[in-house]
Amino acid sequence: MTQENYKHLPKDSDEIVIRDFTFEFPDDLNPVWIPENPVRSHLFNGLSMTMPYLEPYLIRAMLKARDQISDPELLKDMAGFTRQEANHFKCHRRYNDLLKTNGYPELEELENIMAEQYARLETRSLRTQLAYSAGFESMTNGFTNWMITKRVALFAGASPEVSSFWLMHMVEETEHKTVAFDAYMAHSGQYWPRALGVLHGSGHLVGLGIRGMFRLLKKDKILYRPSTLLSIIKELGVCIFNVGPFLYRALLPGFNPRKEQNTQWMKDWVKGYKALAKDEMIPLLDTNNPEMPVPF
Ligand SMILES: [Fe+2]
Ligand SMILES: [Fe+2]
Repeated sequence: MTQENYKHLPKDSDEIVIRDFTFEFPDDLNPVWIPENPVRSHLFNGLSMTMPYLEPYLIRAMLKARDQISDPELLKDMAGFTRQEANHFKCHRRYNDLLKTNGYPELEELENIMAEQYARLETRSLRTQLAYSAGFESMTNGFTNWMITKRVALFAGASPEVSSFWLMHMVEETEHKTVAFDAYMAHSGQYWPRALGVLHGSGHLVGLGIRGMFRLLKKDKILYRPSTLLSIIKELGVCIFNVGPFLYRALLPGFNPRKEQNTQWMKDWVKGYKALAKDEMIPLLDTNNPEMPVPF
């Protein structure tokens, strides 16, 4: 059922741009891509492992909702959303394959678990699936803000390929941040299922990411070291501190992702990309620059 009173509102990004999302990772990529920080590296690796399962799920939820939505602007946004997410998960899959080849073949077991869980989630009502999608995307907006504004603290000296790949993903997440929410509002609009979706989408995904991180640290044989446990507490604490306020706001009635400001760095990145010649590769970030400016 579609909400007849749904009204599509203007958003910050006038266009959801479909870009080439093809980072070349070195074959000998070190899975600990943030120097001296296996916990943070593996937290992001664990999150990357979820993307080829989560993002196709989000796409399929959008495709199912499409048949019931008539607003042309929203339909255009949904098409942009699905194409961006498709590019993301394909690149994450290439990255994840490298992780498996470069020391962690047992991640396949986790992939099977995720495939099963997402297949089960697809049997739920469309309202639940859209609420999960909107909830996950509202958390992503917190991750986006955190990763972009704290990029130097998080990624100084880290692999330029992996840092550039993550931050470009976050730029595009900002660009399409309203779409899953709008699709939910056009389909249902009810408050409580949406609020539950915030907890469901973000809790489930982060839980899977952390599970991946534990597996990677266990394989490194450092999981049970006191220094590793302290580092896990610190990294997750910093993550919760930065992302938590976004989740809190997403839980409130009257929330709309349009109220969350886009970062200047994101806007500069989008502008810089626009000026890039066609066929020119996206330049990598200089992770040794103390400001880590946009790479254009
Ligand atoms: Fe994405
Ligand atoms: Fe997204």
